[in-house]
Amino acid sequence: MCGIVGYIGNEQAKDILIKGLQKLEYRGYDSAGIALVGNSGIELYKEKGRIASLEDAINKDASGTTGIGHTRWATHGAPSKENAHPHQSVSERYTLVHNGVIENYQQLKKEYLHDVTLASETDTEVIVQLVEAFSQKGESTEEAFRHTLSLLHGSYAIALIDNADNDTIYVGKNKSPLLVGLGDGVNVVASDAMAMLHITKEFIEIMDEEIVVVTKDNVQVKTLDGKSVTRHSFTTDIDESDTEKGTYNHFMLKEVDEQPFVMRNIVQKYQNDDGDIKLDGDIRSAINDADRLYIIAAGTSYHAGLVGKEMMEKVAKKPVEVHIASEFLYNQPLLSEKPLFIFISQSGETADCRGVLVNVKKNGYKSLTITNVPGSTLSREADFTLHTYAGPEIAVASTKAYTAQMAVFSILAMDSARAQGIDTDFDAIQELSLIANAMETLCDQKDVMEQIARDYLFETRSCFFIGRGMDYHVVMEGSLKLKEISYIQAEGFAGGELKHGTIALIEDGTPVVAVTTQKHVNLNIRGNVQEVVARGANACIISTETTKQDGDQIVLPDIHELMTPLLSVIPLQLIAYYAALHRGCDVDKPRNLAKSVTVE
Ligand code: M6R
Repeated sequence: MCGIVGYIGNEQAKDILIKGLQKLEYRGYDSAGIALVGNSGIELYKEKGRIASLEDAINKDASGTTGIGHTRWATHGAPSKENAHPHQSVSERYTLVHNGVIENYQQLKKEYLHDVTLASETDTEVIVQLVEAFSQKGESTEEAFRHTLSLLHGSYAIALIDNADNDTIYVGKNKSPLLVGLGDGVNVVASDAMAMLHITKEFIEIMDEEIVVVTKDNVQVKTLDGKSVTRHSFTTDIDESDTEKGTYNHFMLKEVDEQPFVMRNIVQKYQNDDGDIKLDGDIRSAINDADRLYIIAAGTSYHAGLVGKEMMEKVAKKPVEVHIASEFLYNQPLLSEKPLFIFISQSGETADCRGVLVNVKKNGYKSLTITNVPGSTLSREADFTLHTYAGPEIAVASTKAYTAQMAVFSILAMDSARAQGIDTDFDAIQELSLIANAMETLCDQKDVMEQIARDYLFETRSCFFIGRGMDYHVVMEGSLKLKEISYIQAEGFAGGELKHGTIALIEDGTPVVAVTTQKHVNLNIRGNVQEVVARGANACIISTETTKQDGDQIVLPDIHELMTPLLSVIPLQLIAYYAALHRGCDVDKPRNLAKSVTVE
């Protein structure tokens, strides 16, 4: 969702801000803008659409060594130039960018800004007008900024510049992500570290309800009531090259191809020199002491959670419930006596999950976050964190993060089983090594996947995916992948459920992708395939060496049945990729979507 960058230093800010915004494109956006402040005053540029349009609109001579920039994912008001950020106060003294949602903006407008005519439909504009209103009553800019933030209900990450003082950026945060990057005679602001790696690798975290006064030589962290706070910096280990496409045309394809490496990386990170699992003892105890695990997640991470449940229940004999975060938030089920909450989130910023975590903490329950971004909000706020070590995932469609999440669950399941003295032949480490090799073989068969995409999905309006058990979980993920990037109406169903209604939608030529990797339900799912083929469906079958039959389109090598989603998802990811590509879709940045969903 919205991305923020800010720069204050000795160089011209324009190109640095644009590069930073390009690095944030992956979060999803529909308009973009920058504001520069220099000796000749403020220059403001904003455009609907892509950053390239913004670049075209910027005056070649635009100058200023201080500036802020923003990519907007519309919430209040349609995507338009007027609603794009930065927003300015009436006198144009103050200019501001914001990520988040201000819940009480209408009350604030009524109470403090009745004589101000707003230029946009956004909640954001109220913030900048309030800063001006308070400064006109005699408050300094910092006081007016803190005063304003203390009135806001909701989530925000904000960067504000003052036309009367081009040496300072004011930054504030509550619930939405924001970092300050430290350089030599230069400081920067960014929604995530990746946006400013071209300037620095050293960052400080901002906690909720703190502000930071940033100049080129200094950063001062303060509470909303003005007390100074000491904050140590950290150095990110993300390499700038990890955030680039290299020789690939799309991040998604690069990230699909990185999965074998990610599997090996996870094995390395979670194994000690003796070949045993390396896991924080407190995490082990938290899992084993809990009488029930509650997995909370959204989208692809929820699908990984469904697989994680199977692993924890079948291997470690731990009862598990998996919940969609946004549902759990307002409709909490009866809880067990000693629950452990496990949040799965690639970004670690998903607002729905965070909402649940806030309640979990209020109620004194323990929590663990499994994430790809260790410094993220969910990671910081949970009691424990497990890192998925997938490297930055830039494409909106989650691929390597999904397989990494399941891989970490397999390790947790094996560790928990061993710690409880459960006799199991499940060896996650060995399986992950086999999977890495098998993934490589599948990634080398791109021509096969591309042909399937052409044969089945080139012109279709809809597509069904069916599977049972573990395969049901993975077809839900396969259908999400296809719909989000190719815009084909796609649904994943439990094979046996189709005939209870959905089969009515099958007509001549409807593509149905069936995944069958488990011996005990192989014949059942093949029966379901016959049912749809008899009604005209065009079936594509993904099986394994054990379950294969003549005519199957893709045959996967055999691996442990609980681990099959890590492998069977690869063809589904690639088929979705080629379908989207051939239909001319923007694979990495599908319409309406955001990578990091920081609003509820
Ligand atoms: O960052 P998270 O894992 O919490 O994100 C949750 C979903 O928004 C995400 O998995 C989404 O469904 C994927 N982009 C789909 O590919």
